[in-house]
Amino acid sequence: MIMVANKQKIQIVADAEAMCRAAAETLLRHIVETLQTKDVYSIALSGGSTPRGLYALMADDTELGRQMPWERIHFFWGDERPVPPDHPDSNYRMAYAAMLSHAPIPPANIHRIRAENPDASKTAKEYARDMRRFFGITNGELPRFNCVLLGMGSDGHTASLFPGSPAIGEEKRLVMANWVEKFNAYRITLTVPVFNNADLILFLVSGGEKAGALKAILEGDKEPDRYPAKLIQPSGGALIWFLDRFAASSLTRVHQIR
Ligand code: 6PG
Repeated sequence: MIMVANKQKIQIVADAEAMCRAAAETLLRHIVETLQTKDVYSIALSGGSTPRGLYALMADDTELGRQMPWERIHFFWGDERPVPPDHPDSNYRMAYAAMLSHAPIPPANIHRIRAENPDASKTAKEYARDMRRFFGITNGELPRFNCVLLGMGSDGHTASLFPGSPAIGEEKRLVMANWVEKFNAYRITLTVPVFNNADLILFLVSGGEKAGALKAILEGDKEPDRYPAKLIQPSGGALIWFLDRFAASSLTRVHQIR
C-alpha cells in the first residue's frame, strides 16, 4: 500500500506488536518502491521506546530483513537527547542496539546527532550542515526525507517539539537546540518544515495513556501549541498513523481498521 500525495491514513491494529509489523511492512514497501527510481533512501528515525519493536523487526525478521537494501539506506534522527551515544537515554543507542548493529550498514550511512556536545546550538548547526551536504541543498532549501518516523508523547509532543517550546514556531532553521522546560535541558530536534517536507511520515502511537492527546490531534480543533504533533501535516507527501486500539480508544470517528 503506497500512499498517494496529501493522503492521511489511520490504521488501527490490536496491539503494539501488530502496529510495529504493519509499519515495518509499509516502510519496506516504500523503500523498495522508492529505490526503483532513486539511488539511496533517507530516513529520520524516531526515539523513545515505541519504535524499538519496529527496528528489531526490520533487522531480525528473516522475511523483512533479507529484503532490506541496507547499503542504500541513510539513517538520520528526528531528535536526540543531550547525552553520549552510549547513554541509556540516547535515541541513537536505542536504534543501534535494536537495528543498526544487527544489519550490514556502512558507517557512512549513519548520521548521528552529536548531542553529547555541551554547545547544543553548535550541534544543531553541524547537523543542519550534515543534512545540507547529504541532500545537496543550500541555505533556504528544505531536505526531503523519503521517510520520517515519529512517535507521540501523552502530552502531544513529537520528536523534541514539546508544548510551548521555542522550536514549535520555527519556520527557517532545519535543526534546533530546543529548550525543554520540564527537562531543564536542550534537546536537538528537526523542525516542522523538515518533517512536513518528507515523502512519507509514519506515526507510531501505542498505549491508552496517549488516547486523550490523540483524540485532540486527530479530531479536535487546531491547538498546535498545546499538541505539537498536530503541526505535522505533510506538504506533498503522505502521513500514516499506526495506532494500537488502546491509543485509538478515544477516537469517535470511524477509521480504517486493519
Ligand atoms: C524522544 C522521541 C519522542 C518520542 C515520544 C514517545 O526523543 O523521546 O523522539 O518524541 O517519540 O516521547 O515516546 P515513547 O515511544 O517512549 O512513548
